[in-house]
Amino acid sequence: MRQRRRLVIAGSLSLALVAVAVVVIGAVSSSSPGGQAAGGASATPSESPRPAPGATPPPASVDTFDRTAHSLDDPNSIWVVVNKLRPLNPQDFEPGDLVDVPVPHTWDPLLRQEASDAIVAMFQAASDEADLSLASNSAFRSYSAQESVYDGDDLLTARPGFSEHQTGLVMDIGAESGECSLAACFGDIAEGIWVRDNAWRFGFILRYPADKTPVTGYEFEPWHFRYVGVPLATEMHETGVTTLEEFFGLPAAPEYE
Ligand code: DAL
Ligand code: ZN
Repeated sequence: MRQRRRLVIAGSLSLALVAVAVVVIGAVSSSSPGGQAAGGASATPSESPRPAPGATPPPASVDTFDRTAHSLDDPNSIWVVVNKLRPLNPQDFEPGDLVDVPVPHTWDPLLRQEASDAIVAMFQAASDEADLSLASNSAFRSYSAQESVYDGDDLLTARPGFSEHQTGLVMDIGAESGECSLAACFGDIAEGIWVRDNAWRFGFILRYPADKTPVTGYEFEPWHFRYVGVPLATEMHETGVTTLEEFFGLPAAPEYE
C-alpha cells in the first residue's frame, strides 16, 4: 500500500515538473527576438512587424495601381502622353480651363486650373520649407507660340503640335533670381535640387531626365515639370520609373516618324 502511494506521489511530481517545463519553455520562446515579450519589452527594431495570425498580406510584387484611370490619348486628360510619336490630337488643341498662375514669372504663365493650384502650393512649400523663391519661365504655349519657340533642334524644342506645353500641364521652373534659367546648371542649384526632389508631392514629374534621351527624345531639362496628379507622380516616385513612356509601356520616342 505504502509502495503504491509512493508511486502515485512520484507520478504526480513528474507531471507537475513536465507542466512547469512547458510553461518555462513557452515563456522563453515568446520573449525571443521577434516575439512579443511580456512586460512591454520591444522586438528587435530592424525586424518588420508580423501580420496578425490568419492575416494574408498581398505578395509584394502585386501592382495595385490602376494604370487605366485616365486616358493617355485625350489631350484633356492629366495623363496624356505627348512625344515625337504622339502629337496633340487635334494638333491645334487648347485646354478650356486655362488660368493665370499667380507666381513670379518672366512671361505671363497660363496653366489648367488643377496644375496652377498645384504650382502655387509647390512654390509656397519651397518658400516655407527651404526659403527658396521659384519663378515660371514658360507654361502653356499654343500651337502658334510653339511655332515661334521651335528652333530647329529636335533635341531641345518640340515641333508645333508635339509640345507638352500645349497641354496646359507644364511649367518651366526657375529660380526667381534668374540663376541658371533654362540651363542645365539649374539641376545643380538649390532651387533645381528642391523641385527635383519634391515635385512629386504636388503631382509633378521631371519629364526629361538626364539619362532618358533615348526614351523621351530630349536632352536633360531640369526645369521642365509636367503635372500628372499626385497619385501617378507618387507611384512613379516610389517605383523609380522616371518616364511616362516606360511607366505606361509605350514605345520610346527618340525621333519623329
Ligand atoms: N523643350 C520642350 C521639349 C518643348 O519644346 O516642349
Ligand atoms: Zn518646357
